[in-house]
Amino acid sequence: MDLFSLKDKIVIVTGASGLLGREHVAAIADAGGTPVLLDLNEEILNKQVSDLNSKYEIDASAFSVDITDEDQIDKSCKAIIAKYGKIDGLVNNAANNPKVENTTDINFSRLENFPSNVWHMDLDVALKGTFLCIKYYGFEISKNVDGGSIVNISSDLGLISPDQRLYRVDGVEESMQPVKPITYSVVKTGIIGITKYVSTYWAHRNVRCNVVCPGGVENNQNEEFVSELIKRIPMNRMAHKTEYHGVIIFLLSLASSYINGATISADGGRTAW
Ligand SMILES: NC(=O)c1ccc[n+]([C@@H]2O[C@H](COP(=O)([O-])OP(=O)(O)OC[C@H]3O[C@@H](n4cnc5c(N)ncnc54)[C@H](O)[C@@H]3O)[C@@H](O)[C@H]2O)c1
Repeated sequence: MDLFSLKDKIVIVTGASGLLGREHVAAIADAGGTPVLLDLNEEILNKQVSDLNSKYEIDASAFSVDITDEDQIDKSCKAIIAKYGKIDGLVNNAANNPKVENTTDINFSRLENFPSNVWHMDLDVALKGTFLCIKYYGFEISKNVDGGSIVNISSDLGLISPDQRLYRVDGVEESMQPVKPITYSVVKTGIIGITKYVSTYWAHRNVRCNVVCPGGVENNQNEEFVSELIKRIPMNRMAHKTEYHGVIIFLLSLASSYINGATISADGGRTAW
């Protein structure tokens, strides 16, 4: 299946130590590519990369980079180019897991209480972080004669509003009911906008840019939540964490050579309803 091969391809993954980042990295290695892992915790990254290199007999590397910090990105970009001489692909996957500390009488995830500093932090990681990664790593991709591929990770919630009824807890008064925070919708929609912009920006340099909108992944969520959520999904189940390998390999490889600026749902049909 040469069409799907990532042989000799150097592909950066942000948020590489997270639930899905680890899967994107495994998918790239399975397809013969060399993943470059970016995340915050150096110790975790080093362990991950040494496991990968021995399992796949590759020369993957990892960098502890806060993607909201332009200097750190610039330095890592220079180090990656010094080591590999090029970058072929970028998966913009990192985002804040929306969690807000509450007090006994204020639920800070609710729109009416949502703190502006959390607004800034969430937008910084997902939007500024994605922009800066494209500014440095994406620019390197644009220097290749045959370009490369940028894959951005949005969510089904980049396409539809969160159904806040899913997060309700019985017996809790209205003002304290938990919700999916507004920033999640903002960043996941924004990622689609960044994708459209970049897909035309370097198209003449053969850089393709597409966005995947995954649905929720099984991760020990409580049973009641899962049974309510899957009623809203035509395939009647959540995703298994390995089920995005295919779309990641497809979008990074020549199998998708004429796909550019596309928004690809991988959500069991949730956004078709
Ligand atoms: N898990 C799901 O069900 C699901 C569903 C749809 C979309 N998504 C999207 O997939 C992506 C990955 O989700 P996940 O569930 O693996 O999340 P996760 O929280 O497990 O992983 C996110 C990773 O990003 C890293 N990160 C956070 N801030 C960073 C920063 N400033 N610099 C560098 N790294 C940073 C974290 O350390 C973490 O390892 C996210 O964009 C998420 O919105 C996830």
